[in-house]
Amino acid sequence: MGYSVAVVGATGNVGREMLGVLAERAFPAAEMVALASRRSQGVEVSYGERTLKVKALEHFDFAGVDICLMSAGSAVSKEWSPKIAAAGAVVIDNSSCWRYDADVPLVVPEVNAEAAAGFRKRGIIANPNCSTAQLVVALKPLHDRARIRRVVVATYQSVSGAGKEAMEELFSQTKSVFQIDEIVPKKFPKRIAFNVIPQIDVFIEDGYTREEWKMVVETKKILDPKIKLVATCVRVPVFIGHSEAVNIEFENPITAEEAREVLRNAPGCIVIDKRESGGYVTPYESAGEDATYISRIREDATVENGLALWIVSDNLRKGAALNAIQIAECLVKRKLITAKQKAA
Ligand SMILES: NC(=O)c1ccc[n+]([C@@H]2O[C@H](COP(=O)([O-])OP(=O)(O)OC[C@H]3O[C@@H](n4cnc5c(N)ncnc54)[C@H](OP(=O)(O)O)[C@@H]3O)[C@@H](O)[C@H]2O)c1
Repeated sequence: MGYSVAVVGATGNVGREMLGVLAERAFPAAEMVALASRRSQGVEVSYGERTLKVKALEHFDFAGVDICLMSAGSAVSKEWSPKIAAAGAVVIDNSSCWRYDADVPLVVPEVNAEAAAGFRKRGIIANPNCSTAQLVVALKPLHDRARIRRVVVATYQSVSGAGKEAMEELFSQTKSVFQIDEIVPKKFPKRIAFNVIPQIDVFIEDGYTREEWKMVVETKKILDPKIKLVATCVRVPVFIGHSEAVNIEFENPITAEEAREVLRNAPGCIVIDKRESGGYVTPYESAGEDATYISRIREDATVENGLALWIVSDNLRKGAALNAIQIAECLVKRKLITAKQKAA
């Protein structure tokens, strides 16, 4: 016996990855349903060796569903997650809709798996923003070792983080450059092909963008409210894989060698740091992988107890689909949910 699982947004970047990760990890599913908008009804999506026909969310009855993995954006989540939770399923949501709600746990299993138990108030668990997920996986073991005071991060985020239409925009603009065609940005505020854009999401009053604000608030909620963080989030013409240049100030001394050792033994982290040409990980190499890769670990002599490092991960996996499925696995492993079919 297994769980009845629904994936909402199954035709999207994250939804497709979710179905792939569920199959790869042999998630104990007795039933798997793929849902999207009415536009996609009947479209076929892969689930391991199987093909599923997509159903329309608006006509679906969630009564028998145990776990609903949502990745259809905030507006859809705002309307549907409470209804799905009321039907008795646990919703694991990828949008930003519920992340900052005090009654909704925000979970990265390597960091705060125990928080998942708090899902009962609303029946919803939130998955963090992609750039936060990989950051906290690397920060957690360092925080445990030397207490982080302040983090300065610059991100280099791939276009897949903005959805499937954004990937198409990079592809078509790149072709247009070679064909000397006119480029008219649609999804991004400026041309993304052969360019970088220092804006992700909308601007807020203090001059930061909402993506930058999300990294601050989510790191505090997941890891430690005392950590100060400042971010500059940048979109780069990479299809998959987010990178981050990170400077960290600690309360206690920690050398680069100690940090390397701590990170080598940390869950979800792989250290590749050869201090030679090519001896680090780039986003291209992280695509399709589960790990958060840490490279370029060095001491920052401009502050007391400072380190600088480079973090790379597949944003569709650790930043979204994989993390959501790790949360579902956590619910199963900790016996926080029971399969309805088994209970019947
Ligand atoms: N990409 C990332 O790295 C990442 C990381 C963390 C979180 N997220 C979040 O995950 C969510 C999905 O992102 P994505 O990159 O997968 O976007 P995407 O590629 O644009 O896919 C969006 C999905 O939502 C579905 N959808 C849209 N409107 C719907 C409706 N009214 N009813 C049912 N389904 C609807 C779409 O179905 P149709 O094909 O039928 O339109 C599609 O399956 C977003 O909230 C995003 O912020 C993404």
